Amino acid sequence: MKSAKDYIEQHKDRFLSELIDLLKIPSISADSAYEKDVIATAEVIKQRLLEAGCDKVEICETPGYPIVYGEKIIDPTLPTVLVYGHYDVQPPDPLDLWDSPPFEPVIKKTELHPDGAIFARGACDDKGQMYMHVKALEYMTKTDQLPCNVKFMIEGEEEVGSESLGWFVTRNQEKLANDVILISDTGMIANDIPSITTGLRGLSYVEVEVTGPNRDLHSGLYGGAVANPINILTKMIASLHDENNHITIPGFYDKVEELSAAERAKMAEAPFDLEAYKDALDIDAVYGEAGYTTNERNSIRPTLDVNGIWGGYTGEGAKTVIASKAYAKISMRLVPNQDWKEITELFKKHFEAIAPAGVRVEVKPHHGGQGYVTPIDFPGYKAAEKAYESTFGKTPIPQRSGGSIPIVSLFEQELGSKTLLMGFGLDSDAIHSPNEHFGIWNYLKGIETIPMFYHYYANNN
Ligand code: BES
Ligand code: MN
Ligand code: MN
Repeated sequence: MKSAKDYIEQHKDRFLSELIDLLKIPSISADSAYEKDVIATAEVIKQRLLEAGCDKVEICETPGYPIVYGEKIIDPTLPTVLVYGHYDVQPPDPLDLWDSPPFEPVIKKTELHPDGAIFARGACDDKGQMYMHVKALEYMTKTDQLPCNVKFMIEGEEEVGSESLGWFVTRNQEKLANDVILISDTGMIANDIPSITTGLRGLSYVEVEVTGPNRDLHSGLYGGAVANPINILTKMIASLHDENNHITIPGFYDKVEELSAAERAKMAEAPFDLEAYKDALDIDAVYGEAGYTTNERNSIRPTLDVNGIWGGYTGEGAKTVIASKAYAKISMRLVPNQDWKEITELFKKHFEAIAPAGVRVEVKPHHGGQGYVTPIDFPGYKAAEKAYESTFGKTPIPQRSGGSIPIVSLFEQELGSKTLLMGFGLDSDAIHSPNEHFGIWNYLKGIETIPMFYHYYANNN
């Protein structure tokens, strides 16, 4: 029987060039100018799934971008793994901060990736990680080692809130029936410290608009006499945190799950180097909610962040003006038990309430989703743990992540199954940032580890 290691060694150049071809297509879901590219990417994935051994692959139309669905059912009495991933990517801007163009992949060595990493938008989030599953399937089918049934569901709207996926899942519960959901769209601690993501934060994303006078005004003639929407907006935003960096929205923390001292002590055992963390970001201090460590702040605690703020004159030189309007985009990361719709309402009520006379405030909810926690005592987790042990030689550490994949809680609700988050990226891989990359070692290690998961899962279930 051919080992995954041998198979990968023999085919790794092709595995890389196939991924590079996929990364050349700018499948930016947020920007309608790239609609054709997003759709073209779905077609490529369909072809690749067929080549990798799926018996049936369909492009499923939705109100938005299509979902690629593929399956290989070898025996209906065996367990079924549902693989989820996304083929859309974040917009690449700011373009001038990329060392090479985002859709012209290049391989370069880095300190953390001495074997080289592929630099391109989507390399890690999520084309590279999603494609590991396609190549793992190829290995299992070509060497006759697929031990159970597999279904693939690859969507094109993850980076804009997965609206059509929700629509699709609710309408296709039978088609998508499975025993466990497997996703590689998160990270791990380090190449020599494997970890499995056991938690995702929820999300509430809103846009706010503050309107003052009915037109832009001369800042000398009117300055001091009318409310300046930008001054007011920034003051309102600043008031959303107190001196301990607690969020001041009434009711915001009511449902937050408090971890026990024992759970927090367990979390603190995960290796973490604060100095290296600060060095990597060129900051002289970390910043956050009083009473919590950095790893707690970015995983088990809810947060509120401004993602963008604009208004007034931002062109070259100076223009003395009081703008009529000011805007901001704000995200709140939520933890299990916080309901994203409820939090959105609380935000809206509070933000409207703190607006002073002289301005009008509008809060527009965007999208959101619930957080998720994967139990570590169910057969799926145990199988994943064994898979990492066999390929990394170490037991993976369960770790909650700060990121969000809102659809995961919907999977549990609609399909009744648990999700395993086997991510192989590193935090330093710069997802959503310029110079996103994915280590070649990580890519190949993922392709090696995934079949081991199928093996242990199918044989113990
Ligand atoms: N893959 C990320 C989420 C992620 C990354 C989770 C790393 C854990 C570790 C996903 O593509 C993403 O970017 N999600 C968005 C939310 C979405 C609704 C736009 C996020 O977390 O901002
Ligand atoms: Mn992703
Ligand atoms: Mn993303």
